[in-house]
Amino acid sequence: MEYYKLPQSDLTVSKIALGCMRISGKSVEEVEELVKTALDLGINFFDHADIYGGGKSEEVFGEVLKRHPEYRAKMILQTKCGIVPGKRYDFSKEHILQCVNDSLKRLNTDHVEILLLHRPDALCDPQEVAEAFDELYQAGKVKYFGVSNHTPLQIELLKKYSKYPLIINQLQLSIVHSVMIDSGLNMNMKEAFAQDKDGGVLDYCRLNDITIQPWSSIQASWAEGTFIDHPDYQKLNDVMQEIANKYHVTKPTIAIAWLLRHPAKMQPIVGTTSPIHLKEISEACKIQLTRQEWYDLYLASDKPLP
Ligand SMILES: NC(=O)c1ccc[n+]([C@@H]2O[C@H](COP(=O)([O-])OP(=O)(O)OC[C@H]3O[C@@H](n4cnc5c(N)ncnc54)[C@H](OP(=O)(O)O)[C@@H]3O)[C@@H](O)[C@H]2O)c1
Repeated sequence: MEYYKLPQSDLTVSKIALGCMRISGKSVEEVEELVKTALDLGINFFDHADIYGGGKSEEVFGEVLKRHPEYRAKMILQTKCGIVPGKRYDFSKEHILQCVNDSLKRLNTDHVEILLLHRPDALCDPQEVAEAFDELYQAGKVKYFGVSNHTPLQIELLKKYSKYPLIINQLQLSIVHSVMIDSGLNMNMKEAFAQDKDGGVLDYCRLNDITIQPWSSIQASWAEGTFIDHPDYQKLNDVMQEIANKYHVTKPTIAIAWLLRHPAKMQPIVGTTSPIHLKEISEACKIQLTRQEWYDLYLASDKPLP
């Protein structure tokens, strides 16, 4: 595994992180094996959210930490708050504080390294968020803060009031779902791909040392599921397979290598619950796709380039 220092922090993180959204249905033993595999591979970053499995993901992970308290010192834990299932969004101070307390309890830890605001809240009062951040930081419950699915201006608004830097923006990104890359490449063209749907979030994050954490990196969409071996993405699968053969790895590994090849130094959050898949995917760190391979993969997902 390769590591780097997360900009605006003193955290040294693995290039690939493990997302824990899908572990809620797994037994403690299964998650124990997954976490041990991750740590053995050198993955030290684990992504959570209060809502994953209605809290069950954090709970089962916390059970693993109860069995293996020695794991905690090897881990950087990140969780998120702000989505209230069925009701939508809540960035109120009261809600943020309550969420973190509940997450810490479920995770069996007294602090998380990073807290993210999960998805923008139209009623967000940035002053109130800043107060919540300050209370959490002062109490030693959260070391760093960030956001997920936020536009540059939403981040600027939060930054205006927060004493603490926002170090992460977690965003959906894959070869197939590459909205933040498409608009830049198709700049000033008439086609729909030229539309800037995110306020230039990719360049904004790079300019401001905010690390992008791609999520759902092998998913086409919620409805379609993964694009790996999906009949609607035959051309892409053919190109992935060809490149995978060259590097003696699997297709999902190439999909992650495609993200790592981007010079923005993104940290993909991979969501597998399978130790075997995780081992395969972690090989992506060793691969440096050529410029041509990167563009071949982009074009194979049926996106136009001027
Ligand atoms: N911030 C946000 O709004 C947001 C939204 C969604 C997710 N996330 C975060 O991002 C993480 C990743 O999201 P995701 O789970 O949708 O991402 P993903 O890594 O694209 O998808 C993982 C899913 O693909 C399956 N899969 C099928 N074949 C696979 C293969 N050969 N290798 C690996 N996986 C394969 C996995 O099954 P197996 O388990 O059987 O491998 C798993 O169900 C989540 O855990 C969460 O932490 C954040």
